[in-house]
Amino acid sequence: MKRIAILGSTGSVGVNVLKVVKALKGQFKIMGLTTYRNLISLEKQIREFQPEMVVVQDLASAEQFNPQGRIKFFAGAEGLLRLVADERVDLVVICIAGANALLPLVEAIKRKKEIALASKEPIVMAGELLSRLCQEKQVKLIPIDSEHSAIFQCLEGKNLAEVRRVILTSSGGPFRLTQKKKLERIKPQEALKHPRWKMGKKITIDSATLMNKGLEIMEAKWFFNLPLQKIEVLIHPEAIVHSLVEFIDGNVFALLGITDMRLPIQYALTYPRRLPSKLKYLDLTKVKNFTFEKPDFRKFPALSLAYEVAYKGRSFPCVLNASDEVCVEAFLDKKIKITEIPAVISKVIKKHHQVDLETVEDVLGVDRWAREETYKIIKER
Ligand SMILES: NC(=O)c1ccc[n+]([C@@H]2O[C@H](COP(=O)([O-])OP(=O)(O)OC[C@H]3O[C@@H](n4cnc5c(N)ncnc54)[C@H](OP(=O)(O)O)[C@@H]3O)[C@@H](O)[C@H]2O)c1
Repeated sequence: MKRIAILGSTGSVGVNVLKVVKALKGQFKIMGLTTYRNLISLEKQIREFQPEMVVVQDLASAEQFNPQGRIKFFAGAEGLLRLVADERVDLVVICIAGANALLPLVEAIKRKKEIALASKEPIVMAGELLSRLCQEKQVKLIPIDSEHSAIFQCLEGKNLAEVRRVILTSSGGPFRLTQKKKLERIKPQEALKHPRWKMGKKITIDSATLMNKGLEIMEAKWFFNLPLQKIEVLIHPEAIVHSLVEFIDGNVFALLGITDMRLPIQYALTYPRRLPSKLKYLDLTKVKNFTFEKPDFRKFPALSLAYEVAYKGRSFPCVLNASDEVCVEAFLDKKIKITEIPAVISKVIKKHHQVDLETVEDVLGVDRWAREETYKIIKER
């Protein structure tokens, strides 16, 4: 039985990880669960999965869940590191939204844990540093993000030098068919309605601006050690083909599946094995249309901005990531329009003097700078 810790267990991915664990009865022992503030979900999860360790933001608020003192509670960012470092944890599943996933990920790599990774932000912030660390510690990150799981599976047993290009698919988000001039009036509630996936707020807004696909370009670069020239994006509204890999001889491998995160999550948890699934299997006769189109870079400038930043490299992706996190929050708080997100990020990028990110402290320093600049620009508008 594999002993696992789920970081961000109360989030959209985290809840699906627990559903997979439950469906694969007897395969996993839940050692640790973590939340930031969602104590209602956490309490249910503790009752059902009986973890040995739990991490919350505020210890006092969670004491009520531990009447017999059987569970070890830890607090905050330090608590996440304690959980990851625990010798009894074999597999760390990281599904914390945003930059806060970076330090636990670094700790998990240093401790040579098996790692299933959903959080894309740390890879964007610190891709080069993380891949160096993974190489040094001989750790392989297993992707949970559906597109990267697809590419990961299409590449298995293949020679990377024979890859002509990879194609990340995108559903196109909720505004694929919305006229450009109408985008500036979009309200947060409309942007939070994704046509295909039910996800956390940050990734849902990123999917509406297509910034999510931009982050995924950088995620693919570092996950698979691919040059950016070989990473393309196609809009595929049906969200059945989760991504494709084209080889130099013209053969194309695609990974198809129902639109359900439990599919890539299960593979990341059982890798390299495959176990039977309790989900419904894909019925291709029910997929009426199967379409692909090029993304509209003019309507979704966040995607071109992400490509530009990915090519610039060094500390620029870290700036984009931090600034995007602040902008998404500002949009959800109705402080800026959705169309201002790439515009504000672009201003922050213009002010940035690039540096090399040699250490985690370097990364956190640039992250902090970019957040402060973004707040300033939003305030001064
Ligand atoms: N959702 C998807 O289908 C999907 C697909 C592919 C990739 N991803 C990636 O997976 C990650 C998680 O996405 P999600 O949609 O599951 O997000 P989510 O629903 O917002 O959940 C995030 C989780 O992280 C916890 N968290 C938030 N801030 C934290 C902090 N400062 N310290 C510790 N824990 C914190 C949350 O706790 P609370 O519940 O207390 O807020 C929650 O458990 C993101 O990087 C996203 O891009 C998601």
